[in-house]
Amino acid sequence: MKLRIEKVIFGGDGLAKDEGQVVFVPFTLENEIVSAEITSRHKKFSRAHVVEVLEPSPERRPPPCPYFGRCGGCQLQHMSYKEQLRVKETQLKELFPVVLPIVEAPKTLYYRKKISLHHQEGLLGFRGIDNHTFVAVDRCLLFSDKLLKEIPHFKDEGPFLIDNLSIEVSSKAFCQNFPEQSLNLYHYIKSLVEKENPRIITDLYCGVGITSLLSAPLAEKVFGIELSSEAVRLAKLNAQKNGIKNVFFKVQKAENAAIYGDLVLINPPRTGADNAVLQNILRSKTKTIIYTSCNPSTLQRDIKRLEGFTLDSCKPFDMFPQTSHVEVVTVLRR
Ligand SMILES: C[S@@+](CC[C@H](N)C(=O)[O-])C[C@H]1O[C@@H](n2cnc3c(N)ncnc32)[C@H](O)[C@@H]1O
Repeated sequence: MKLRIEKVIFGGDGLAKDEGQVVFVPFTLENEIVSAEITSRHKKFSRAHVVEVLEPSPERRPPPCPYFGRCGGCQLQHMSYKEQLRVKETQLKELFPVVLPIVEAPKTLYYRKKISLHHQEGLLGFRGIDNHTFVAVDRCLLFSDKLLKEIPHFKDEGPFLIDNLSIEVSSKAFCQNFPEQSLNLYHYIKSLVEKENPRIITDLYCGVGITSLLSAPLAEKVFGIELSSEAVRLAKLNAQKNGIKNVFFKVQKAENAAIYGDLVLINPPRTGADNAVLQNILRSKTKTIIYTSCNPSTLQRDIKRLEGFTLDSCKPFDMFPQTSHVEVVTVLRR
């Protein structure tokens, strides 16, 4: 069948319509005409794969990685980097009314600090695009130009340096996977905190304490809450090493945390914040929330649940070039 791709949706698939029925077609670009074959039919949509690109977009390019299309790691390598940024920004504009320009990545390959490989019959690889078949690979261009078997999978490059802080990280605690771009992200969060001029800050899901410690000179006290005891051990060590005394870290589920102060920083995992966390924020005296998220759909759900707060701004950062993922920093006020 012949399809025209209307747009590229979250997750990276192209969306087309066939006699009114939605068809998802991976590895396509907006406005392309493709010949496609249905691979599965569902009640409300079908899936198809491209047989031939009949009218390619000018933004189509040969993917740099030979495994692209089979390996499940990347979804956007077939489009120019400029188009990847436009697609991510456009998708966010459909969800949120105020989207600031996306911050492009300082590099688009070899940016990841760590990767999780799968092993099968002595081979290294990743999950395929179907999310379960094993695809053997000898290198991953998001990570390095070297062969995977020649490099350690976690390049522990010592402390992460930001402003005048030296932050210890570990493979056992969360840290952003793209150090250069995370500098831009953290500087932006710090600039937002500075504008708020807060007295007390609660930093939920604080990891090894980066945003808490960056905010420390801007507030009287900062309370960092984190579930992982290893992350909190490092956060406390980071406070001590950097001579910061007004930040207090606690191993606790964010769901059970008391919310102090006038500003809440929140940065949950992809699943978003538990409703109990949002209800606690609603019951607190907090006027402003700076919510950082790597998943726009759970972010949108959580913003809806934060009744009485309105979205003031939404700033995307491309932390994951070549993939359909995007990181966003939002400011919410009541
Ligand atoms: C996306 S990371 C953010 C870390 C930190 N804000 C940073 O920028 O490095 C999410 C963090 O939430 C922690 N976490 C997951 N579930 C949690 C929960 N229920 N309560 C508190 N922390 C949790 C994880 O251990 C992880 O460190």
